[in-house]
Amino acid sequence: MLERFFLFILRKFPPEIAHNIGLLALKCGLIPSKRKITNKLISINLFGYKLSNPIGLAAGFDKNAEGLPGLLKQNFSFIEVGTVTPLPQKGNIKPRIHRLTNQKSIINSLGFPNLGADKVLTNVNQVRKYHKLGHEPLIGVNIGYNKESRFPNDDFVKCFETFFHVSDYITINISSPNTPGLRKLQFKNKLEPLLKKLYSIRKKLYKKYKRSIPLVIKISPDLRKLDLKTISELSIKYNLQAIIATNTSVDKKLKKNNKIFNLEGGISGKLLSKNSNKILITLSNFTKGKIQIIGVGGIDSADSLLEKFENGANAVQLYSSLVYNGLSLIDKILFDLIKIIKSRGYKNISFINKNEKI
Ligand code: FNR
Repeated sequence: MLERFFLFILRKFPPEIAHNIGLLALKCGLIPSKRKITNKLISINLFGYKLSNPIGLAAGFDKNAEGLPGLLKQNFSFIEVGTVTPLPQKGNIKPRIHRLTNQKSIINSLGFPNLGADKVLTNVNQVRKYHKLGHEPLIGVNIGYNKESRFPNDDFVKCFETFFHVSDYITINISSPNTPGLRKLQFKNKLEPLLKKLYSIRKKLYKKYKRSIPLVIKISPDLRKLDLKTISELSIKYNLQAIIATNTSVDKKLKKNNKIFNLEGGISGKLLSKNSNKILITLSNFTKGKIQIIGVGGIDSADSLLEKFENGANAVQLYSSLVYNGLSLIDKILFDLIKIIKSRGYKNISFINKNEKI
């Protein structure tokens, strides 16, 4: 009830200011902790970790790991902070987040505003004093490169090395539409050298610290079938643990059909569902269970979550629906999920995923 009122007030503010107030409340412990929901029907296995439910927080919500103290007390089973770049940067000019309230969607052109790797590391380290590696919710760090960077691959390496010790997994973000050139890294001639480089760094760090860390790649919903095939093959070849599908979309048709061609940036939320589900289906046909897939895009209910599993996802993340429904949406989805899985007679949610072999 209190949360609904808080949400009502927040909506009176411009989106970015409202978001920062929300983060501050999370940082200061003003958002109530949730009672943990566990049920074997919804437990999953994600890159070797047994997690009590399939819902993760998508990147971009807590870019600087500032809201982590409060977010850890919600019912996410994993939380992805970032995107973080080596150096701090301001991002694009404001306003750069727009609510598309009628369509339950968002369009953003943020361009990775963040405090930079050193400061974010300090924030994560602060939390690691009481929330150890390997404990739920897992903390993943999503990494990118600085807009002005002359050597993008070196930025990824720098961030990978910086967060290796404090992350449960690391995501390479090559799919945000608001950083020039970033999405080109999804094509073979650029992707292979990047993955090769990270592969050798991982090997070196493994030898030195005897710790291997799951590596994940996040892709765009605007890719062609051929590119998805290449990404699937390379992700398996270079021993990645999962593919996150998808980031936001800049599909011109999507903008035209919804009369939002005047707004810059990537679309997320309900409007993204169809495109990101299509990508998920194609991807899962190419990967055939050889690599895990995290489905993202337009999840706002147990049904839309299950659709991701039916299309091949092993876990999910969400962001936009939290803006419209608040963090208590997670609990509602989990309770509904348990009811639906029970009524369908499945032993566990993973059996819905056609590629799961347990
Ligand atoms: C995002 N997203 C995002 N993704 C990412 O990898 N790094 C980032 O920094 C951001 N930043 C960001 C800001 C805002 C305001 C939004 C709405 C989204 C994309 C996000 O993680 C997710 O992939 C998409 O939003 C699709 O999921 P939803 O929102 O439809 O559940």
